[in-house]
Amino acid sequence: MSTNRTDALRVAVLASGRGSNLQAVIDAIEAGTVQANLVAVISNKKEAPALERARRHGLACLFVDPKPYAGRPDSREAYDRELLDVLRQHDVELVLLAGYMKIVTRVLVEAFANRMMNIHPSLLPSFPGLDVQKKAIEWGCKLAGCTVHFVTEGVDEGPIILQAAVPILDDDTPDTLAARILEQEHKIYPRAVQLFAEERLQVAGRRVLIKDGKPAGESVISPS
Ligand code: GRF
Repeated sequence: MSTNRTDALRVAVLASGRGSNLQAVIDAIEAGTVQANLVAVISNKKEAPALERARRHGLACLFVDPKPYAGRPDSREAYDRELLDVLRQHDVELVLLAGYMKIVTRVLVEAFANRMMNIHPSLLPSFPGLDVQKKAIEWGCKLAGCTVHFVTEGVDEGPIILQAAVPILDDDTPDTLAARILEQEHKIYPRAVQLFAEERLQVAGRRVLIKDGKPAGESVISPS
């Protein structure tokens, strides 16, 4: 789908760890299935493998150290103000949280309202937070999955953009289930970015409508 844009969407990724979702976005951009320019990869962890991945692809990567802010009553907001400066310096239009293990504050949420996405490994609103694959197994769920959503101040609460479901098998461990979910994460996150780049996401209250598209939900209920 064509838009009125003549230049590619400027995207930044915030990541704290492994960076496999970052890699999926990089691969999709390099393959041409996502039309975007990844202008910065930023981490709060100096040794994050995500930064190394970015380096390997010649992308600008930055470590923004949270330590100078530790102990201040407004440490999280002050840190986010520094991030906001960096994002503005790079003219970022869309921010992707990809395994970013810090809760973002109002400072970033307001500056990037409906322009900041997160990927979460559960079918929200079930199981926000951490260790969610283990929680889904222990609850006895038959389906699990992942969710791409816009970021609001409530953790894992923002309007849902895309979801994919996978089965939970009797012999699943949190690790085997996480791997099955991750395969889907790597598909729906780049897809959500491309929908944004095509200006097809329309937020209506809690709902995200996809213009000229198929329904947002997607079920992958076969493990193969
Ligand atoms: C993913 O499972 C994502 O859903 C969650 O954190 C994990 C990050 O993995 N928010 P990676 O760093 O992208 O490999």
